[in-house]
Amino acid sequence: MAVLNVNIDHVATVRQARLTDEPDPVWAAAQCELAGANGITIHLRQDRRHINDRDLRLLKETVACKLNLEMCMAEPIVKIAEQTRPEQVTLVPEKRAELTTEGGLDCVKYKRRLATVVKRMHKRGILVSTFIAPEKEQIAASAQTGCDAIELHTGMYANAKSERAIRRRLAELRAGKDFAMENKLIVHAGHGLTYRNIAAVASIEDLCEFNIGHSIVARAVLVGIRQATAQMIELIEKFSP
Ligand code: PXP
Repeated sequence: MAVLNVNIDHVATVRQARLTDEPDPVWAAAQCELAGANGITIHLRQDRRHINDRDLRLLKETVACKLNLEMCMAEPIVKIAEQTRPEQVTLVPEKRAELTTEGGLDCVKYKRRLATVVKRMHKRGILVSTFIAPEKEQIAASAQTGCDAIELHTGMYANAKSERAIRRRLAELRAGKDFAMENKLIVHAGHGLTYRNIAAVASIEDLCEFNIGHSIVARAVLVGIRQATAQMIELIEKFSP
């Protein structure tokens, strides 16, 4: 059955809105863990717009479940990952002006850099996942560079409006998952998943992890992050095959 990593970036976003010290993502992580989360996901962006170096350092010390660090492949960030040694890194593309990660990582274009980063992470005992579109070339490139896992980008599914478009996006995710498994990759999924759209993705067999952030933090503002996390876990478990 797939498990949930809660992305707590937007707890830090609220803090950064006033450049103050609350809410503390470290406190939020502990609440998610108490609610049964499998892991905590954070994105250390180059502009440090939400999660910062202090958060990463303290979360590495305090998170007892999995710490999944989303990051781009820029050298200063790769060095921080080597020093901090989270259990897993998820490699993402990063544009300074974007509101959130837009597309998947282009593992074909950046194959040489990816291979180098994978080797360096593995030397430190860190698992590597790539955040990619459900496309064969991207999946093959991830496998060829020695990645342990891929995270299928569910954004296109989340944005699909008509029944037909939703079915098409789900079929792409399913085919991507099958091809990744043939290539011996572990398969995660995430981006744009909500309490309303999780059911169909959760019912895809053999997905291992979901990374979900905005929807959980948005609900947490109203019901608390412990309850918001527990409700998402409940849905994943209910619809998992
Ligand atoms: N997975 C990846 C690779 C991401 O970049 C993000 C956004 O930071 C997420 C999952 C979570 O997306 P959302 O906040 O839409 O749940």
